[in-house]
Amino acid sequence: MPTLLAIQVSPRHEYSTSRKLSAVFVEKWLAAHPGGKAIERDLMKTNLPFVDLPWIGGAFTPPEQHSPESAAAIKISNDLVAELRAADRIIIATPMYNFTIPAVLKAYIDHIVRVGVTVVDNVGQLTGKKATVILASGGDFSPGSPIEGYDHASSYLRQVLGFIGITDLDIVLAGSARAGTSGETAVEAFGEVIASAAAARVVG
Ligand SMILES: Cc1cc2nc3c(=O)[nH]c(=O)nc-3n(C[C@H](O)[C@H](O)[C@H](O)COP(=O)(O)O)c2cc1C
Repeated sequence: MPTLLAIQVSPRHEYSTSRKLSAVFVEKWLAAHPGGKAIERDLMKTNLPFVDLPWIGGAFTPPEQHSPESAAAIKISNDLVAELRAADRIIIATPMYNFTIPAVLKAYIDHIVRVGVTVVDNVGQLTGKKATVILASGGDFSPGSPIEGYDHASSYLRQVLGFIGITDLDIVLAGSARAGTSGETAVEAFGEVIASAAAARVVG
């Protein structure tokens, strides 16, 4: 039974373009995979501490040497890695903030990129998964746009996900997704894009 992990990042909840597009995606994926299971990891509802000294102690020493502080600090990381490892299909629905990813998504990434766990001898361990990023932004960063090069979110996510073995990655640029009336129009337009035959590869 395939499992889809949908990682939500936006704090705008019902107003969020990335969340709305993700909902379209999840619905289509479930329809295409009878018996499949969709799990949501909402980073707005997850207590994600930044990496600190106890966390580093937990990440770089064997469990039997962990202090109570390190054991507690590394637990959320272990849980998130297990959740990600169990997923066959991954979607990350995120806004662009200041030309890159929101801090909460970076905090998540710092928990799941683990030397000796998800990366061993520089080889990513989470292979065999397919992932899609839906990147909502106010600007249009699509190929040919004069601001295409300002999009540091796409290149960063491709690099860091590839580092842990997730190399089969599609990135859907949901640009011009401003809040308000134009944002609503953009959601409908992108919903159609995701529903289209061309996007079947993305949803599959
Ligand atoms: C703090 C903040 C920073 C933003 N930075 C950018 C940016 O660098 N480039 C851009 O095109 N849009 C930027 N935006 C606009 C959002 O990417 C856009 O509103 C997007 O739709 C947000 O995703 P959401 O609708 O899923 O919340 C920013 C918005 C906020 C709140």
